[in-house]
Amino acid sequence: MNISTPSAATASPAAKIRIDGLSKTYGTFTALEPTTLDVQRGEFLTLLGPSGSGKTTLLQMVSGLTPATSGRLSIDGENWTDRPVHERGMGLVFQHYALFPHMTVEENVAFPLKMRNQPADQIRAAVAETLEKVQLDKFAHRFPRELSGGQQQRVALARCFVFRPEIILMDEPLGALDKALRETMQLEIRRLHREFGTTLIYVTHDQEEALVMSDRICVMNHAKVEQLGTPSQIYSDPETIFAATFIGHSNLLQGTLAGTDDQGNTLIRTAAGTFAGRMGARDADAGAHALIVRPERVSLGAATGPGMNELRATLRDVVYIGSDNRLLLDLPDGTEFTLRRDPGADIGAEIGQEITVHWPIEAGRVVS
Ligand SMILES: Nc1ncnc2c1ncn2[C@@H]1O[C@H](COP(=O)(O)OP(=O)(O)OP(=O)(O)O)[C@@H](O)[C@H]1O
Ligand SMILES: [Mg+2]
Repeated sequence: MNISTPSAATASPAAKIRIDGLSKTYGTFTALEPTTLDVQRGEFLTLLGPSGSGKTTLLQMVSGLTPATSGRLSIDGENWTDRPVHERGMGLVFQHYALFPHMTVEENVAFPLKMRNQPADQIRAAVAETLEKVQLDKFAHRFPRELSGGQQQRVALARCFVFRPEIILMDEPLGALDKALRETMQLEIRRLHREFGTTLIYVTHDQEEALVMSDRICVMNHAKVEQLGTPSQIYSDPETIFAATFIGHSNLLQGTLAGTDDQGNTLIRTAAGTFAGRMGARDADAGAHALIVRPERVSLGAATGPGMNELRATLRDVVYIGSDNRLLLDLPDGTEFTLRRDPGADIGAEIGQEITVHWPIEAGRVVS
C-alpha cells in the first residue's frame, strides 16, 4: 500500500479523472446512483463490490462504451462526457481478453501501435520491450490458442501497456485464472502500473485482491459508493456495516445507541452487554447500529486496565487456519464472535466452557 496516497477526500486540482454525479438508469431501474469521485494522476483505484453493485457500469461510463444518464466526466480538467470511445485513447482490459486468434502474440501486441500508425522499427522495439516485461518474449510467435490462460492474459496486458495509455481501465481481468496465477498477476499489474505511472481503475469483487493492489478502494453496494479510502482506512475504519463485513472478517455486535461514556466514547447496548467504541463519521442517527471489532484486536482473558471492553462467551470451536488458530465463541444470543490465537498458545479452556475476552475501546467502531 502506498502511504503517500492522497486522502479519501474528493475534489483536488490534480485529479486526472473527475467523475461528477455520473449515473445510469435503464428504464426505471437504477444501475448506478449519481456518483462523484476523483482519481488522482498515477493512482491505482479499485472499484470493489458484490455482483450487480454497478462497478462495470461506472467503468464503462468512464471508457465511453456506455453513455451516462446524467453527470459529467472530466479528464485533466476537460469535459469528456460525450467524447467517443476511440478518441479517449484509454487502455481497456476485460475478463475475456479477446485476443485476435489469427494473430501471433507479437502481432496482437503490435496492433494498437499499428492503429496509431507508428513506424515499424519503433513498433518492433516497443513490442519486444513489453513482451519482455510480461515474460512472454519466448512466446512471440505463438498463436493465442497455443498459450495457457495466464499467458493469454499477459498478452492482453502487454497489448494494453504497450501504447503507454495515460489511463487504463480493467474489469475483473484475473477472474478466469486460478488462485496462484491470480496472485502472481496481481503483483505483475501493480509493477507495470508503477513503472509506467499510469492512472488505473480496476474492478474486482475479490476483497483480498483489492487490498493487495490498490492505492484506494471504492467500496460499492446497491448502485452506490459505500466508502472510499485507502485499504488500511477501509479495513480499520469501516464506515458502514456493509464495508466492515465485505472486507476482512469482522465481529458484529448489533444493538442500539446508549449515549456516551465520560471519555466521549459511544456506548452501544447489545445482547452481550453494553460496550464502548468509536463512533463512525456518518453515524449520528438513532436506530440499529453495530459495534465492529476485528478478530485480531481481541485477546483472551479479563481486561487488563481501563479503556477496554470485556465480554464472556462460550468457546464453541478452535479452527486451525494455517497462520493462526481461530477461536469461535457463542454469545448468549447466538451471535458468533471470533478471535485469533497463535497455534502454539495455550487457550486455557475446553470447548464448551465459558471464557472472558477483551479488546481496546479504540479498536471498536460503531457503524450503522
Ligand atoms: N444493459 C442493461 N440493461 C439493464 N440493466 C443492466 C444493463 N447493464 C447492467 N444492468 C444492471 O445494472 C446493475 C449493475 O450492473 P453492473 O454490470 O454494473 O454490475 P457489476 O457490479 O459489474 O457486477 P458483476 O460483479 O456481476 O460484474 C445490475 O443489476 C445489472 O443487471
Ligand atoms: Mg461487472
